[in-house]
Amino acid sequence: MEISYNALPPERRRTPPPKVETFGKIRTDHMFVADYRDGAWRDPRITPYGPFALPPGAACLHYGQTLFEGAKAFRHADGEVYVWRFDENMKRLNHSASVLMMPEVPEELQLEGLLRLIDLERGWCPEKPECSLYIRPLMFAVQDMLAVKPSKTYIFCIMLSPSGPYYAGGFDKAITLLITGRYHRAVSGGTGTAKCAGNYAASLRPAGHAANAGAEQVLYLDASNTYLEEAGSMNHFHVLADGTFVIPQFNDSVLRSITSLSVLELAAQGRLRARQEKIALKNFVEGLRSGEIIEAGGLGTAAVISPVNRYLFEDGSSLIVGDGKIGRHSRDLYELYSRMQFGSVPAPEGWLRRVPSYEK
Ligand code: PLP
Ligand code: COI
Repeated sequence: MEISYNALPPERRRTPPPKVETFGKIRTDHMFVADYRDGAWRDPRITPYGPFALPPGAACLHYGQTLFEGAKAFRHADGEVYVWRFDENMKRLNHSASVLMMPEVPEELQLEGLLRLIDLERGWCPEKPECSLYIRPLMFAVQDMLAVKPSKTYIFCIMLSPSGPYYAGGFDKAITLLITGRYHRAVSGGTGTAKCAGNYAASLRPAGHAANAGAEQVLYLDASNTYLEEAGSMNHFHVLADGTFVIPQFNDSVLRSITSLSVLELAAQGRLRARQEKIALKNFVEGLRSGEIIEAGGLGTAAVISPVNRYLFEDGSSLIVGDGKIGRHSRDLYELYSRMQFGSVPAPEGWLRRVPSYEK
C-alpha cells in the first residue's frame, strides 16, 4: 500500500531540543496514520502531529477498545538511526488486537509506516546515553455507537517521542516496589497479555496507593496472592547469589515483555544466566531475608533495567535487597543491553534494523 506524505514545509518544522531529560513529553512534528473501514486499512499517510476529530460516541471513549505498543530507536556512532526489535512489537500489537476484537494491522504496514516516519524525523533521535526515540503505536475504535460490541472502524497511528529515562535518575537510582495483595493488575482469563489501555487505567489507583506508601510502583501478585507477576509498566526479575536472573513465568495475566524475552534469548546464547519460573511470594521473601536473592529490578522498553533496592509491604514493613546498592549483575546486564541497543556491542541477528532513506 502506498504511503502518502503531507509533510510540513521545512520553515514550519521545529528544531529538536538539544537536551532530552524527560520520558514521553516531547512529540516530533509528524505522525503516521491509517484508517480501518469496510474491512480494510486505507489511506496510510504521514501527516503533521495533531488532534483527531472524534464523535463523543466513539467506541474507544466508552468501552476502551484501545491498544498501544512501546518500542525504541537509537542513534549509533555511524550517525544512522536503528530500531530495536520492532518485529516483536508488531506481533504483540496484533496479539493485543485479537484480545480486544480489533483488526490486525499488517506487519508490512506497521513497519513501513514506522520506517518512513522515522526517516522524516531522524533529526529528533537523541544521541546521548539513556536517551532514545521512543516509538508509540496506537490503535483505537472510532465507530459512533453505544452498544457494547466491536467497532467497525479504527484509527492506527504511530507517534514518536524523544525521551530520557522513564524513572528520573535512570539506572543509577534504584526504586522501591510495593508488594500488595490488595489490588490486581490482571487475572487469568482477562486482558493481562494485551497492551490495552484498560490495563493501565486499572493500574492508576494501585500506583497512587504505592506512591502514598513511598514506592514507585506496585509489584502485582496473581489473583490468589501467592505468586509474583509483574509491575504496572515492567516485568520483574531477581538475581540469585550465583548470578542467575530469575523472571516470573509468563502466563495469561502477564505481558510478554520483549525485554524479558531478550534477556532469556541472551541466556540461551550463553551470554548470561537467566531462567523463568513460577515464583511464590513466600520463597521470594525468604530469599530476600536469607541473602539468597542479591539483586532485583524491572525489565521493560521504557524502564530498560530498573534496579529495585527495597520492597514495601501492606503492614508497613520493608525488606532491603542485598546490601541496598545497585549490584554488579544488574549493572552488567544494563550495560550489555544498552551497548547492544547503541551498537557498540554486537546484538543478535535481526534485533536492530537501520532506518533507510526514502524518496519523499
Ligand atoms: N509489563 C507491562 C505491564 C508493561 O507495560 C511493559 C512495558 O511495555 C512491560 C511489562 C515490559 O514490556 P517490554 O519489555 O516489551 O517493553
Ligand atoms: C513501555 O515500556 O514501552 C511501556 O509501554 C511502558 C509504559 C510507559 C506504559
